[in-house]
Amino acid sequence: MAPEPEDEINEKNPPPLDEDDIALLKTYGLGPYSTSIKQAEKEIKEMAKKVNDLTGIKESDTGLAAPSQWDLVSDKQMMQEEQPLQVARCTKIINQNSEDAKYVINVKQIAKFVVGLGDKVSPTDIEEGMRVGVDRNKYQIQIPLPPKIDPSVTMMTVEEKPDVTYNDVGGCKEQIEKMREVVELPMLHPEKFVKLGIDPPKGVLCYGPPGTGKTLLARAVANRTDACFIRVIGSELVQKYVGEGARMVRELFQMARSKKACIVFFDEVDAIGGARFDDGVGGDNEVQRTMLEIVNQLDGFDARGNIKVLMATNRPDTLDPALLRPGRLDRKVEFGLPDLESRTQIFKIHTRTMNCERDVRFELLARLCPNSTGADIRSVCTEAGMYAIRARRKTVTEKDFLDAVNKVIKGYQKFSATPKYMVYN
Ligand SMILES: Nc1ncnc2c1ncn2[C@@H]1O[C@H](COP(=O)(O)OP(=O)(O)O)[C@@H](O)[C@H]1O
Ligand SMILES: [Mg+2]
Repeated sequence: MAPEPEDEINEKNPPPLDEDDIALLKTYGLGPYSTSIKQAEKEIKEMAKKVNDLTGIKESDTGLAAPSQWDLVSDKQMMQEEQPLQVARCTKIINQNSEDAKYVINVKQIAKFVVGLGDKVSPTDIEEGMRVGVDRNKYQIQIPLPPKIDPSVTMMTVEEKPDVTYNDVGGCKEQIEKMREVVELPMLHPEKFVKLGIDPPKGVLCYGPPGTGKTLLARAVANRTDACFIRVIGSELVQKYVGEGARMVRELFQMARSKKACIVFFDEVDAIGGARFDDGVGGDNEVQRTMLEIVNQLDGFDARGNIKVLMATNRPDTLDPALLRPGRLDRKVEFGLPDLESRTQIFKIHTRTMNCERDVRFELLARLCPNSTGADIRSVCTEAGMYAIRARRKTVTEKDFLDAVNKVIKGYQKFSATPKYMVYN
Protein backbone atom coordinates (compact mmCIF):
# COMPACT_ATOMS: atom_id res chain seq x y z
CA MET A 1 0.00 0.00 0.00
CA ALA A 2 1.41 3.35 -1.02
CA PRO A 3 1.87 5.88 1.78
CA GLU A 4 -0.59 8.76 1.70
CA PRO A 5 0.67 12.07 0.38
CA GLU A 6 2.04 14.33 3.06
CA ASP A 7 -0.36 17.32 2.78
CA GLU A 8 -3.32 15.06 3.27
CA ILE A 9 -1.99 13.96 6.64
CA ASN A 10 -1.44 17.59 7.57
CA GLU A 11 -4.98 18.46 6.74
CA LYS A 12 -6.45 15.66 8.77
CA ASN A 13 -4.52 16.30 11.95
CA PRO A 14 -2.67 19.56 11.69
CA PRO A 15 0.40 19.88 13.91
CA PRO A 16 -0.26 21.84 17.11
CA LEU A 17 0.71 25.50 17.07
CA ASP A 18 4.06 26.20 18.65
CA GLU A 19 4.95 29.31 20.61
CA ASP A 20 6.13 31.32 17.61
CA ASP A 21 2.87 30.71 15.79
CA ILE A 22 0.87 31.90 18.77
CA ALA A 23 2.99 35.02 19.10
CA LEU A 24 2.40 35.71 15.42
CA LEU A 25 -1.35 35.16 15.76
CA LYS A 26 -1.50 37.60 18.62
CA THR A 27 -0.15 40.39 16.44
CA TYR A 28 -3.03 40.03 13.98
CA GLY A 29 -5.29 43.07 13.88
CA LEU A 30 -2.94 45.18 15.96
CA GLY A 31 -1.60 48.49 14.76
CA PRO A 32 2.15 49.02 14.80
CA TYR A 33 2.21 50.85 18.15
CA SER A 34 -0.94 49.64 19.87
CA THR A 35 0.78 47.78 22.69
CA SER A 36 3.09 50.63 23.50
CA ILE A 37 0.23 53.14 23.36
CA LYS A 38 -1.79 51.02 25.72
CA GLN A 39 1.17 50.81 28.06
CA ALA A 40 1.67 54.58 27.99
CA GLU A 41 -2.03 55.24 28.67
CA LYS A 42 -1.93 52.95 31.65
CA GLU A 43 1.11 54.70 33.02
CA ILE A 44 -0.49 58.12 32.58
CA LYS A 45 -3.57 56.97 34.46
CA GLU A 46 -1.48 55.61 37.29
CA MET A 47 0.54 58.79 37.48
CA ALA A 48 -2.58 60.97 37.59
CA LYS A 49 -3.97 58.85 40.37
CA LYS A 50 -0.74 59.14 42.31
CA VAL A 51 -0.71 62.94 41.93
CA ASN A 52 -4.31 63.19 43.03
CA ASP A 53 -3.61 61.03 46.07
CA LEU A 54 -0.67 63.18 47.05
CA THR A 55 -2.51 66.49 46.71
CA GLY A 56 -5.50 65.08 48.52
CA ILE A 57 -8.09 66.03 45.89
CA LYS A 58 -11.24 64.07 46.33
CA GLU A 59 -14.33 64.13 44.21
CA SER A 60 -16.71 65.99 46.42
CA ASP A 61 -20.45 65.62 46.24
CA THR A 62 -21.04 69.32 46.47
CA GLY A 63 -19.08 70.24 43.37
CA LEU A 64 -16.88 72.54 45.45
CA ALA A 65 -13.13 72.69 45.07
CA ALA A 66 -10.98 71.15 47.75
CA PRO A 67 -10.75 73.33 50.87
CA SER A 68 -7.02 73.73 50.33
CA GLN A 69 -7.78 75.69 47.19
CA TRP A 70 -10.24 78.13 48.70
CA ASP A 71 -9.34 81.79 48.68
CA LEU A 72 -11.87 83.32 51.01
CA VAL A 73 -10.18 86.71 51.34
CA SER A 74 -10.18 87.58 47.68
CA ASP A 75 -13.68 86.21 47.24
CA LYS A 76 -14.89 88.49 50.00
CA GLN A 77 -13.16 91.46 48.45
CA MET A 78 -14.71 90.73 45.08
CA MET A 79 -18.16 90.53 46.59
CA GLN A 80 -17.71 93.87 48.32
CA GLU A 81 -16.65 95.54 45.10
CA GLU A 82 -19.75 94.39 43.30
CA GLN A 83 -22.77 96.55 43.88
CA PRO A 84 -26.05 94.79 44.47
CA LEU A 85 -28.21 95.12 41.39
CA GLN A 86 -31.88 95.79 41.06
CA VAL A 87 -34.28 93.78 38.96
CA ALA A 88 -36.07 95.66 36.22
CA ARG A 89 -37.86 94.85 33.01
CA CYS A 90 -36.73 96.23 29.69
CA THR A 91 -39.97 97.30 28.08
CA LYS A 92 -38.78 98.97 24.90
CA ILE A 93 -35.64 99.53 22.89
CA ILE A 94 -35.31 102.87 21.12
CA ASN A 95 -33.16 103.09 17.99
CA GLN A 96 -32.42 99.43 17.99
CA ASN A 97 -29.43 98.29 15.88
CA SER A 98 -27.87 101.73 15.94
CA GLU A 99 -24.93 103.18 17.84
CA ASP A 100 -26.94 105.13 20.40
CA ALA A 101 -29.61 102.62 21.27
CA LYS A 102 -31.50 103.48 24.40
CA TYR A 103 -33.46 101.18 26.62
CA VAL A 104 -36.69 101.89 28.47
CA ILE A 105 -36.68 100.03 31.74
CA ASN A 106 -39.38 99.66 34.29
CA VAL A 107 -38.31 99.29 37.89
CA LYS A 108 -41.22 97.99 39.87
CA GLN A 109 -42.69 100.51 42.26
CA ILE A 110 -40.13 103.19 41.43
CA ALA A 111 -40.38 104.58 37.93
CA LYS A 112 -39.54 104.12 34.29
CA PHE A 113 -36.18 105.24 32.98
CA VAL A 114 -34.46 105.58 29.65
CA VAL A 115 -30.95 104.25 30.12
CA GLY A 116 -27.91 102.91 28.32
CA LEU A 117 -25.99 99.69 28.63
CA GLY A 118 -23.27 98.95 31.14
CA ASP A 119 -19.88 98.03 29.79
CA LYS A 120 -20.26 94.32 30.45
CA VAL A 121 -23.28 93.63 28.24
CA SER A 122 -23.49 93.64 24.47
CA PRO A 123 -26.54 95.05 22.65
CA THR A 124 -27.33 91.63 21.22
CA ASP A 125 -27.92 90.23 24.71
CA ILE A 126 -30.87 92.45 25.48
CA GLU A 127 -34.31 91.96 23.99
CA GLU A 128 -37.59 93.68 24.57
CA GLY A 129 -39.57 92.25 27.44
CA MET A 130 -36.54 90.75 29.14
CA ARG A 131 -35.74 90.86 32.81
CA VAL A 132 -32.48 92.71 33.45
CA GLY A 133 -30.31 93.66 36.38
CA VAL A 134 -29.59 97.41 36.72
CA ASP A 135 -27.21 99.21 39.04
CA ARG A 136 -28.57 101.58 41.65
CA ASN A 137 -26.86 104.81 40.61
CA LYS A 138 -27.29 105.33 36.91
CA TYR A 139 -29.71 102.47 36.33
CA GLN A 140 -27.58 101.15 33.51
CA ILE A 141 -28.30 97.63 32.41
CA GLN A 142 -25.58 95.41 33.84
CA ILE A 143 -26.76 91.89 33.21
CA PRO A 144 -29.52 90.06 31.31
CA LEU A 145 -31.61 87.83 33.55
CA PRO A 146 -33.42 84.62 32.68
CA PRO A 147 -37.22 84.62 32.74
CA LYS A 148 -38.79 84.14 36.09
CA ILE A 149 -39.79 80.53 36.51
CA ASP A 150 -41.02 79.01 39.70
CA PRO A 151 -38.25 76.98 41.34
CA SER A 152 -40.63 74.09 41.84
CA VAL A 153 -41.07 73.98 38.06
CA THR A 154 -37.35 74.17 37.41
CA MET A 155 -36.85 71.28 39.80
CA MET A 156 -38.94 69.00 37.60
CA THR A 157 -36.24 68.78 34.96
CA VAL A 158 -34.65 65.38 35.04
CA GLU A 159 -30.98 66.08 34.90
CA GLU A 160 -29.52 62.72 35.65
CA LYS A 161 -30.46 60.24 33.03
CA PRO A 162 -32.25 57.23 34.49
CA ASP A 163 -30.32 54.00 33.95
CA VAL A 164 -33.19 52.21 32.23
CA THR A 165 -32.73 51.33 28.57
CA TYR A 166 -34.99 49.77 25.99
CA ASN A 167 -33.31 46.46 26.81
CA ASP A 168 -34.80 46.58 30.29
CA VAL A 169 -38.31 46.63 28.90
CA GLY A 170 -39.54 43.13 28.20
CA GLY A 171 -41.99 42.64 25.35
CA CYS A 172 -43.82 45.87 24.39
CA LYS A 173 -42.10 45.79 20.99
CA GLU A 174 -44.96 47.54 19.27
CA GLN A 175 -45.27 50.16 21.98
CA ILE A 176 -41.58 50.95 21.87
CA GLU A 177 -41.74 51.25 18.12
CA LYS A 178 -44.72 53.64 18.23
CA MET A 179 -43.17 55.73 20.93
CA ARG A 180 -39.86 56.06 19.14
CA GLU A 181 -41.59 57.01 15.94
CA VAL A 182 -43.24 59.96 17.63
CA VAL A 183 -40.44 61.03 19.90
CA GLU A 184 -37.22 60.30 18.08
CA LEU A 185 -38.06 60.62 14.41
CA PRO A 186 -39.22 64.26 14.41
CA MET A 187 -36.22 65.23 16.49
CA LEU A 188 -33.66 63.44 14.39
CA HIS A 189 -35.16 63.90 10.91
CA PRO A 190 -37.46 66.93 10.89
CA GLU A 191 -36.87 67.38 7.18
CA LYS A 192 -38.89 64.26 6.38
CA PHE A 193 -41.99 65.86 7.80
CA VAL A 194 -41.32 69.19 6.14
CA LYS A 195 -40.92 67.51 2.77
CA LEU A 196 -44.18 65.65 3.08
CA GLY A 197 -45.93 68.70 4.43
CA ILE A 198 -47.42 67.07 7.52
CA ASP A 199 -47.06 68.00 11.13
CA PRO A 200 -45.45 65.35 13.29
CA PRO A 201 -47.61 64.12 16.16
CA LYS A 202 -47.31 66.30 19.21
CA GLY A 203 -47.85 63.82 21.91
CA VAL A 204 -48.52 60.30 23.08
CA LEU A 205 -50.90 58.98 25.66
CA CYS A 206 -49.82 55.71 27.27
CA TYR A 207 -52.58 53.80 28.96
CA GLY A 208 -52.99 50.34 30.38
CA PRO A 209 -53.34 48.46 33.65
CA PRO A 210 -50.99 49.43 36.48
CA GLY A 211 -47.58 47.80 36.42
CA THR A 212 -47.34 47.16 32.69
CA GLY A 213 -44.34 49.40 32.16
CA LYS A 214 -45.71 52.81 31.19
CA THR A 215 -43.45 54.75 33.50
CA LEU A 216 -40.63 52.35 32.75
CA LEU A 217 -40.79 53.02 29.03
CA ALA A 218 -40.88 56.79 29.59
CA ARG A 219 -37.73 56.46 31.63
CA ALA A 220 -36.11 54.48 28.84
CA VAL A 221 -37.04 57.24 26.41
CA ALA A 222 -35.50 59.82 28.73
CA ASN A 223 -32.33 57.80 28.86
CA ARG A 224 -32.19 57.52 25.10
CA THR A 225 -32.62 61.12 23.99
CA ASP A 226 -30.30 64.03 24.51
CA ALA A 227 -33.34 66.25 24.78
CA CYS A 228 -34.17 67.89 28.04
CA PHE A 229 -36.65 65.73 29.91
CA ILE A 230 -39.21 67.25 32.23
CA ARG A 231 -41.20 64.90 34.44
CA VAL A 232 -44.37 66.15 36.06
CA ILE A 233 -46.56 64.09 38.29
CA GLY A 234 -50.19 65.04 37.86
CA SER A 235 -50.78 65.71 41.52
CA GLU A 236 -47.90 68.17 41.67
CA LEU A 237 -49.97 70.56 39.62
CA VAL A 238 -52.85 70.55 42.07
CA GLN A 239 -52.23 73.64 44.15
CA LYS A 240 -53.82 75.43 47.02
CA TYR A 241 -54.65 78.73 45.42
CA VAL A 242 -56.75 79.54 42.41
CA GLY A 243 -54.71 79.86 39.26
CA GLU A 244 -51.49 78.50 40.70
CA GLY A 245 -51.72 75.19 38.87
CA ALA A 246 -52.40 76.87 35.54
CA ARG A 247 -49.50 79.23 36.15
CA MET A 248 -47.20 76.28 36.80
CA VAL A 249 -48.25 74.68 33.52
CA ARG A 250 -47.56 77.93 31.69
CA GLU A 251 -44.13 78.26 33.24
CA LEU A 252 -43.44 74.64 32.50
CA PHE A 253 -44.05 75.09 28.81
CA GLN A 254 -42.19 78.39 28.84
CA MET A 255 -39.20 76.56 30.20
CA ALA A 256 -39.67 73.77 27.65
CA ARG A 257 -39.74 76.26 24.80
CA SER A 258 -36.48 77.82 25.91
CA LYS A 259 -34.70 74.48 25.37
CA LYS A 260 -33.47 73.22 22.06
CA ALA A 261 -35.46 70.03 22.33
CA CYS A 262 -37.64 68.95 25.15
CA ILE A 263 -39.87 66.09 26.25
CA VAL A 264 -42.53 66.76 28.86
CA PHE A 265 -43.85 63.69 30.61
CA PHE A 266 -47.05 63.91 32.65
CA ASP A 267 -47.31 60.81 34.81
CA GLU A 268 -50.66 59.82 36.38
CA VAL A 269 -52.38 62.48 34.37
CA ASP A 270 -55.84 61.47 35.63
CA ALA A 271 -55.10 63.56 38.72
CA ILE A 272 -55.73 66.68 36.64
CA GLY A 273 -57.13 65.50 33.35
CA GLY A 274 -60.48 64.28 34.61
CA ALA A 275 -63.59 64.95 32.57
CA ARG A 276 -65.31 68.21 33.45
CA PHE A 277 -68.31 67.97 35.67
CA ASP A 278 -70.02 70.15 38.23
CA ASP A 279 -70.01 68.91 41.77
CA GLY A 280 -72.08 71.87 42.93
CA VAL A 281 -69.39 73.19 45.26
CA GLY A 282 -66.81 74.24 42.72
CA GLY A 283 -64.03 72.32 44.41
CA ASP A 284 -62.84 70.73 41.23
CA ASN A 285 -62.96 73.84 39.10
CA GLU A 286 -59.38 74.65 39.91
CA VAL A 287 -58.22 71.23 38.75
CA GLN A 288 -60.15 71.69 35.54
CA ARG A 289 -58.58 75.07 34.95
CA THR A 290 -55.18 73.46 35.19
CA MET A 291 -56.19 70.86 32.66
CA LEU A 292 -57.54 73.51 30.30
CA GLU A 293 -54.26 75.34 30.49
CA ILE A 294 -52.53 72.15 29.35
CA VAL A 295 -54.97 71.89 26.46
CA ASN A 296 -54.26 75.49 25.63
CA GLN A 297 -50.51 75.00 25.69
CA LEU A 298 -50.80 71.90 23.53
CA ASP A 299 -52.54 73.99 20.92
CA GLY A 300 -50.17 76.87 21.32
CA PHE A 301 -46.83 75.48 20.41
CA ASP A 302 -45.63 74.73 16.96
CA ALA A 303 -45.70 71.01 16.33
CA ARG A 304 -42.45 71.14 14.45
CA GLY A 305 -40.96 72.88 17.42
CA ASN A 306 -39.15 70.37 19.43
CA ILE A 307 -41.53 69.81 22.30
CA LYS A 308 -43.10 66.41 22.72
CA VAL A 309 -45.66 65.61 25.34
CA LEU A 310 -46.03 62.16 26.83
CA MET A 311 -48.80 61.28 29.25
CA ALA A 312 -49.42 58.12 31.21
CA THR A 313 -52.53 56.96 33.01
CA ASN A 314 -54.32 53.81 34.05
CA ARG A 315 -57.81 55.29 33.86
CA PRO A 316 -58.14 56.52 30.28
CA ASP A 317 -61.93 56.43 30.57
CA THR A 318 -61.95 59.27 33.07
CA LEU A 319 -59.91 61.65 30.95
CA ASP A 320 -61.47 64.69 29.39
CA PRO A 321 -62.16 64.18 25.69
CA ALA A 322 -60.80 67.63 24.96
CA LEU A 323 -57.38 66.50 26.06
CA LEU A 324 -57.44 63.48 23.82
CA ARG A 325 -58.71 64.86 20.60
CA PRO A 326 -56.42 64.42 17.61
CA GLY A 327 -54.16 67.38 17.18
CA ARG A 328 -53.48 67.49 20.87
CA LEU A 329 -52.51 63.95 21.74
CA ASP A 330 -52.45 62.18 18.41
CA ARG A 331 -51.10 58.85 19.43
CA LYS A 332 -52.66 56.57 21.96
CA VAL A 333 -50.54 53.59 22.89
CA GLU A 334 -52.11 50.80 24.86
CA PHE A 335 -49.97 48.76 27.21
CA GLY A 336 -51.62 45.38 27.47
CA LEU A 337 -50.75 42.42 29.63
CA PRO A 338 -47.57 40.76 28.37
CA ASP A 339 -47.94 37.55 26.37
CA LEU A 340 -46.01 34.36 27.07
CA GLU A 341 -42.90 35.35 25.18
CA SER A 342 -42.81 38.78 26.78
CA ARG A 343 -43.28 37.28 30.22
CA THR A 344 -40.33 34.96 29.66
CA GLN A 345 -38.30 37.94 28.60
CA ILE A 346 -39.34 39.96 31.64
CA PHE A 347 -38.35 37.04 33.89
CA LYS A 348 -34.96 37.01 32.25
CA ILE A 349 -34.58 40.78 32.64
CA HIS A 350 -35.32 40.74 36.34
CA THR A 351 -33.16 37.71 37.09
CA ARG A 352 -30.23 39.11 35.15
CA THR A 353 -28.58 40.46 38.26
CA MET A 354 -29.75 37.63 40.51
CA ASN A 355 -27.66 34.68 41.51
CA CYS A 356 -29.79 31.89 40.04
CA GLU A 357 -29.30 28.24 39.34
CA ARG A 358 -28.17 27.72 35.80
CA ASP A 359 -31.12 25.81 34.35
CA VAL A 360 -34.20 27.57 35.65
CA ARG A 361 -36.99 27.07 33.13
CA PHE A 362 -38.25 30.62 32.74
CA GLU A 363 -40.62 29.60 30.02
CA LEU A 364 -42.36 27.27 32.44
CA LEU A 365 -42.55 30.02 35.04
CA ALA A 366 -44.00 32.38 32.48
CA ARG A 367 -46.61 29.78 31.66
CA LEU A 368 -47.54 29.59 35.32
CA CYS A 369 -48.38 33.27 35.59
CA PRO A 370 -51.09 33.98 33.07
CA ASN A 371 -52.65 37.43 33.19
CA SER A 372 -49.89 38.92 35.26
CA THR A 373 -48.17 42.21 34.68
CA GLY A 374 -44.49 43.08 34.58
CA ALA A 375 -44.71 44.33 38.12
CA ASP A 376 -46.12 40.98 39.28
CA ILE A 377 -43.24 39.15 37.67
CA ARG A 378 -40.77 41.43 39.31
CA SER A 379 -42.44 40.69 42.61
CA VAL A 380 -42.14 36.94 41.93
CA CYS A 381 -38.41 37.32 41.41
CA THR A 382 -38.01 39.28 44.63
CA GLU A 383 -40.04 36.73 46.58
CA ALA A 384 -37.94 33.89 45.18
CA GLY A 385 -34.90 35.70 46.46
CA MET A 386 -36.52 36.03 49.87
CA TYR A 387 -37.14 32.26 49.99
CA ALA A 388 -33.48 31.65 49.23
CA ILE A 389 -32.41 34.06 51.96
CA ARG A 390 -34.71 32.40 54.45
CA ALA A 391 -33.16 29.01 53.65
CA ARG A 392 -29.69 30.56 53.97
CA ARG A 393 -28.74 29.69 50.44
CA LYS A 394 -26.60 31.78 48.15
CA THR A 395 -28.34 30.85 44.91
CA VAL A 396 -31.98 30.90 43.95
CA THR A 397 -33.36 27.58 42.78
CA GLU A 398 -36.27 26.79 40.54
CA LYS A 399 -38.22 25.56 43.53
CA ASP A 400 -37.94 29.02 45.08
CA PHE A 401 -39.43 30.50 41.94
CA LEU A 402 -42.30 28.02 41.95
CA ASP A 403 -43.06 28.80 45.59
CA ALA A 404 -42.92 32.50 44.82
CA VAL A 405 -45.31 32.10 41.91
CA ASN A 406 -47.71 30.32 44.22
CA LYS A 407 -47.49 33.04 46.79
CA VAL A 408 -47.58 36.09 44.56
CA ILE A 409 -49.84 35.13 41.71
CA LYS A 410 -52.35 33.11 43.69
CA GLY A 411 -52.19 35.04 46.95
CA TYR A 412 -52.27 38.57 45.66
CA GLN A 413 -55.06 38.10 43.18
CA LYS A 414 -57.40 39.95 45.50
CA PHE A 415 -55.32 43.11 45.27
CA SER A 416 -54.80 43.04 41.55
CA ALA A 417 -56.09 46.14 39.83
CA THR A 418 -56.18 44.56 36.41
CA PRO A 419 -59.73 43.10 36.52
CA LYS A 420 -61.07 46.47 37.58
CA TYR A 421 -59.25 48.07 34.70
CA MET A 422 -60.80 45.57 32.35
CA VAL A 423 -64.25 46.42 33.65
CA TYR A 424 -63.86 50.15 33.18
CA ASN A 425 -62.39 49.97 29.72
N1 LIG B 1 -42.53 45.20 30.24
C1 LIG B 1 -41.80 45.18 31.36
N2 LIG B 1 -40.54 44.74 31.33
C2 LIG B 1 -39.77 44.72 32.44
N3 LIG B 1 -40.20 45.13 33.64
C3 LIG B 1 -41.45 45.60 33.76
C4 LIG B 1 -42.32 45.64 32.62
N4 LIG B 1 -43.49 46.14 33.01
C5 LIG B 1 -43.39 46.42 34.33
N5 LIG B 1 -42.16 46.09 34.79
C6 LIG B 1 -41.71 46.19 36.17
O1 LIG B 1 -42.76 46.73 36.94
C7 LIG B 1 -42.38 47.94 37.57
C8 LIG B 1 -43.53 48.94 37.57
O2 LIG B 1 -43.83 49.34 36.26
P1 LIG B 1 -44.31 50.81 35.91
O3 LIG B 1 -43.82 51.14 34.56
O4 LIG B 1 -43.93 51.74 36.99
O5 LIG B 1 -45.88 50.62 35.90
P2 LIG B 1 -46.98 51.63 35.41
O6 LIG B 1 -47.40 51.10 34.08
O7 LIG B 1 -48.10 51.48 36.41
O8 LIG B 1 -46.39 52.99 35.38
C9 LIG B 1 -41.20 48.44 36.80
O9 LIG B 1 -40.30 49.15 37.61
C10 LIG B 1 -40.56 47.17 36.27
O10 LIG B 1 -39.63 46.66 37.20
MG1 LIG C 1 -46.66 54.64 36.48
